[in-house]
Amino acid sequence: MPFDQPSLCWDDNAIVTLDQRALPHEKRRLRLDTVDDVITAITTLAVRGAPSIGLAGALGVALSAHAHCSPGITGGGQEAVRADAQRLAAARPTAVNLARAVDRALGRLPDGPEAVLAEATTMIDEDRAVNRQMVAHAVQAVLDRCPQRPLRFLTHCNTGRLATAAVGTALGTILALADAGKVTEVLVDETRPLLQGARLTAWELAEAGVPHRVCVDSAAAAAMGRGLVDCVLVGADRITARGDVANKIGTYGLAIAAAHHGVPFIVVAPESSWDRSLVDGRDIVIEERDPDEVTSYGEVRTTPPGTRAYNPAFDVTPASLITAIVSEHGVHHASGARA
Ligand code: MRU
Repeated sequence: MPFDQPSLCWDDNAIVTLDQRALPHEKRRLRLDTVDDVITAITTLAVRGAPSIGLAGALGVALSAHAHCSPGITGGGQEAVRADAQRLAAARPTAVNLARAVDRALGRLPDGPEAVLAEATTMIDEDRAVNRQMVAHAVQAVLDRCPQRPLRFLTHCNTGRLATAAVGTALGTILALADAGKVTEVLVDETRPLLQGARLTAWELAEAGVPHRVCVDSAAAAAMGRGLVDCVLVGADRITARGDVANKIGTYGLAIAAAHHGVPFIVVAPESSWDRSLVDGRDIVIEERDPDEVTSYGEVRTTPPGTRAYNPAFDVTPASLITAIVSEHGVHHASGARA
């Protein structure tokens, strides 16, 4: 999929995307023809990243509307679409983008399947514009807070074009700074257990020709302690009214280490990731995934038979540990945020 293409698009009554499970070994095109295909793609992380799963969910509602409400089709009608929308919204619970985008697409159902599809494709266009504005603000936020030149970043998970419809959030910011010659190196947390950093972020950085090294997640604090990191940049899955941030498991530990070492810790995420109905981040539902993701590596079991695992996919970083949260509207000063 070329650089200027959205990571998801609608093609002849199906959703077409890149199968992120196959990266970096294979650039496999994935065609999703049914709502069940979309749900499987979201739950198995073939499509992942908060903005991308929102867009996939919205396009999933369009698939359902075409299947059930097209003229001449004896489908299940609007009730069936509403039931599909509920299943889509519940596919992953933490990122607010999914339920919100599904809901927005569903709002056009009374106007017919083409209206639902138009709403979903408008969301893709909006996400592209939002990416550009957000990255411009985030570049400035980084430059304002990090006097060193050029800069050494540390990032976690994947927040690039695979996770959005355009350049991405935190990774989009790093790429823009690299384009301007302001990046020496990016340390990429491998991001256990599903390796979004090692597999996807390293792939995007290599594609863009940006110098980077992958490290195990547990090396991040040591890297900060040794003065190898000027700024930590991450994305978000849900942000509460006071600025607590849910993001990929391991983010909270990074924020603690960054605060300890005086390294700016900046979150880059669209307005669509804010959930102002919640104040305290402890109220965010955290997805717990299959223990096998932790007890095995690929097909190989790494723990004694019968070993149980704790596998939360996300954690919550309190606002007090965050230097700045940047969206397409600029820098949010979360209450109690670190200066
Ligand atoms: O489980 P994933 O890979 O979907 O988790 C993704 C993240 O945690 C990202 O940091 C977040 O969605 C922001 S993507 C711009």
